[in-house]
Amino acid sequence: MKLADNKATLSFSNGSPSVEMPIYQGSIGPDVIDIRKLYAQTGMFTYDPGFLSTASCQSAITYIDGDKGELLYRGYPIEQLATQADYLDTCFLLLNGELPNEQERGDFHKLVINHTMVNEQMQFFLRGFRRDAHPMAVLTGLVGALSAFYHDSTDINNPEHRRIAAIRLIAKMPTLVAMAYKYGIGQPYMYPRNDLSYAGNFLRMMFGTPCEDYKVNPVLERALDRIFILHADHEQNASTSTVRLCGSSGTNPFAAIAAGVACLWGPSHGGANEACLNMLEEIQASGGVAKVGEFMNQVKDKNSGVKLMGFGHRVYKNYDPRAKLMQETCNEVLQELGLENDPLFKLAKELEKIALEDDYFVQRKLYPNVDFYSGIVQRAIGIPVSLFTGIFALARTVGWIAQLNEMLADPEYKIGRPRQLFTGSPRRDVPAGFKR
Ligand code: CMC
Repeated sequence: MKLADNKATLSFSNGSPSVEMPIYQGSIGPDVIDIRKLYAQTGMFTYDPGFLSTASCQSAITYIDGDKGELLYRGYPIEQLATQADYLDTCFLLLNGELPNEQERGDFHKLVINHTMVNEQMQFFLRGFRRDAHPMAVLTGLVGALSAFYHDSTDINNPEHRRIAAIRLIAKMPTLVAMAYKYGIGQPYMYPRNDLSYAGNFLRMMFGTPCEDYKVNPVLERALDRIFILHADHEQNASTSTVRLCGSSGTNPFAAIAAGVACLWGPSHGGANEACLNMLEEIQASGGVAKVGEFMNQVKDKNSGVKLMGFGHRVYKNYDPRAKLMQETCNEVLQELGLENDPLFKLAKELEKIALEDDYFVQRKLYPNVDFYSGIVQRAIGIPVSLFTGIFALARTVGWIAQLNEMLADPEYKIGRPRQLFTGSPRRDVPAGFKR
């Protein structure tokens, strides 16, 4: 963080003395005004619900230029990582700041792949859930429970514990997601296989059974790996900020990541892929492409409460670069599975075409986000809709952990404690006649 030459001055129309505030520069992106002393100097807070203009931390992990539609992990464009690296290379990069060399690559892949098994007791814990529980409810519980199973790596002030917890989380998330799925459909859990790739192993744990060999389809393996890369991190979004805030109290890493899983579940965030596919299925059921115009009118009617799911983003005011890559993967997967004429894909393309030309969307700079096509890919692979957000959580775990560990290593970090503008009743007495 570099101090800029200029400063910001805040003046008041009532004649109160003005205050000067330092400005810091990042390596790219907007500068920030340092308001940390504002309350001490003026007795006032800033007001910014939803953090529209507030940087909550300094970070060197992920950079988004929303106007350009650019996403960089540690400086590398997402398009290059998605085509030249695999998910575990991306994990190494996010955690350590650099891409691995040959030796590091082999060691890291081995380290993760060799820790994919979960404590056997975990399956008995899982049995406490109803079979029809939503996978995200199950995952929130399972990830939180890891702190009880791996109690030897829960001291976040110990860098070695943080490193072990990171590897455990990245390695065991696919196993937990697959277990949540198998439990729901009443099939036996499949133990991980260390000779398969991270994505290949997940596919086998999801779709294999003990009755026969499971052959990993390389196109689906690559597609899943790309889904993981595209969802690996996204700077200070709601779930990542939740993980940071939760972890800022000094809680253990598994608990902080469980908080991230819970936050991700919402339809405005990671739940959007599930909501998007449900939306496409509803339009399809009510008449498909012919009904797109009618649906769009509802979306544009503020009173309808209907949104075009998979569209719009707080940061991207241009095409989400992940959506482009996801559309490419969508084509590949549908072609591989002979589903080129998939009606939902056609419907999605039609919706996208209309939205990109419609004034409502153009004026508000609403473009497809990553979730617009990821649901179609996952559905084609055979992943049930209710598990989509679980896949997102699996992939985002590395981002959460990298951001949590970055915060804990930052000497400027403090427990997160926002302030408020109080609008309730001032002090008053309980009426004398009010008795228990
Ligand atoms: N459909 C229709 N109108 C929309 C949409 C949409 N999907 N998204 C935004 N708008 C309108 C919104 O009503 C507002 O209109 P107006 O200015 O007339 O009041 C304007 O566009 C600005 O939207 P906003 O709600 O102020 O923007 P935000 O930054 O608070 O919300 C968002 C961002 C992602 C929550 C929102 O775009 C949305 O709900 N999209 C649908 C859900 C979705 O796809 N979420 C996935 C996000 S990407 C995955 C992830 O990173 O989690």
